[in-house]
Amino acid sequence: MSPLRTALVAQLLGGAIAASLIQIAYPRLFAAPLIAAAVQGLCAALVSDKLGGAKWWLIIHLGFLPAALSVGRLGSGLGIDPAWYFVCFVALLLIFWRTDKSQVPLYLSNAATASALAALLPEAACRVVDLGCGDGGLLRKLAARRPDCSFVGIEHAPLPWLWARLASLRWPNLTIRYGDFWRLRLDPFDVVYAFLSPVPMPHLIAKARSEMRSGTLLVSNSFAVPGIKPELSVAVGDRRDTILYCYRW
Ligand SMILES: C[S@@+](CC[C@H](N)C(=O)[O-])C[C@H]1O[C@@H](n2cnc3c(N)ncnc32)[C@H](O)[C@@H]1O
Repeated sequence: MSPLRTALVAQLLGGAIAASLIQIAYPRLFAAPLIAAAVQGLCAALVSDKLGGAKWWLIIHLGFLPAALSVGRLGSGLGIDPAWYFVCFVALLLIFWRTDKSQVPLYLSNAATASALAALLPEAACRVVDLGCGDGGLLRKLAARRPDCSFVGIEHAPLPWLWARLASLRWPNLTIRYGDFWRLRLDPFDVVYAFLSPVPMPHLIAKARSEMRSGTLLVSNSFAVPGIKPELSVAVGDRRDTILYCYRW
């Protein structure tokens, strides 16, 4: 079952179990919605655990309904129109898109990482791609440093893509594409950069092996590929102790 489906089943089943338990044991608890919501959270967390949901989902299940109730109460106390919740939901969806499916959330490479990556680029003009380029900030830094190279970013989340596209218009050596990087062939590129998560790494390395040309470089920010020794590991020296894992084919 997909993580989102598991979460939905856990919430619904947790709600049904909590309502039954309260009805049988202490119906007066329905008059205390926050406590009833806490019971639902506990039941949902237990169901999620039984269904094999990831451990970090337990915290979300525990807090989801109590937090939603509290925010709702706070909002109506402050006179906030409930339509704003929908607007916030849509905005978050457009920013984070199908993180549940890709298992790759949005977080951005910092300036120190951009410098370290620039130092890894070949001296001769080359083609570089950022798989899941987010707001395109990393590529803009590289495009400014290396006007002789061409840079491509591909992003599937609508708002980061739009931001990246508009912000990158003035860089003639930078192209931002909308789409799924799993459908992008990697053979035109000399350097492939990825800042993803541990989940897609085995799949990415298989794709890189079958599509990248010999002598070209895959740089993975923070996530090594289990069982494969990188040619080079570069410590960026920033506050989050970023490591760039470099694999050459
Ligand atoms: C951790 S962020 C990295 C952003 C950027 N590369 C950087 O280093 O600043 C990962 C990005 O990959 C995007 N992403 C995840 N899966 C993707 C896919 N299959 N196709 C395109 N983009 C994807 C996410 O939306 C997110 O913006």
